[in-house]
Amino acid sequence: MAQPMKILRVDSSAKTENSESRRLTDRIIDGLKKNGKSLDVTVRDLNESLPQVNTAWIEANNTPSDDHTDEHKKTLALSNTLVGEIEAADTLIIGVALYNFSITASLKLWIDLVCRARKTFAYVDGSPKGLMTGKKAIICFASGGTPFESDIDFASGYLRHILGFIGITDVTYITADKHFMDDRSLINANAAVDTLTNQL
Ligand SMILES: Cc1cc2nc3c(=O)[nH]c(=O)nc-3n(C[C@H](O)[C@H](O)[C@H](O)COP(=O)(O)O)c2cc1C
Repeated sequence: MAQPMKILRVDSSAKTENSESRRLTDRIIDGLKKNGKSLDVTVRDLNESLPQVNTAWIEANNTPSDDHTDEHKKTLALSNTLVGEIEAADTLIIGVALYNFSITASLKLWIDLVCRARKTFAYVDGSPKGLMTGKKAIICFASGGTPFESDIDFASGYLRHILGFIGITDVTYITADKHFMDDRSLINANAAVDTLTNQL
């Protein structure tokens, strides 16, 4: 029997209802199920708030794991869980709500907790090398009025960079951009999801 697709679904809209990015992440998973794919889905809802990194976290993260005290281990436990979720996945599906021309604060907290030297990236010959290779990311991007990849979209390029930084370079965007003013935006995004799920 075929191995299930191991999906990590990350939702970052603060809205738990009537969120367009969540509708799209839902639609991808539903579409794959309808197509008979066997799925193993882990859901990480960033609306259930994550802590900011702080002095104790930075100190623990800078300490080699062989020297970790019980306190270091406790401090890094959630971060280790989040990194483990990425490691276990072959496909990340990330819902992105554009807030003030960038990502939500909750998504930035997740990024700060998963970009870890020696765990998700390493310096090799003076250059960073992503360690989370062999994975694909699908990003469902929703904005009210800001065009995707325009000069005032400070989210999409950043996310592509940060995923590449940890080794995920196969990134596909589904865009429901400027949907407050473009009647076709959500229709086109749904169609793009359906095309994608038929290809996966
Ligand atoms: C706090 C906040 C800030 C927003 N800032 C922007 C923005 O800078 N540009 C934009 O096009 N839309 C902005 N919007 C609209 C959202 O991007 C839009 O509602 C999108 O659908 C959010 O994703 P969601 O439906 O999954 O919540 C903002 C919405 C909120 C709540």
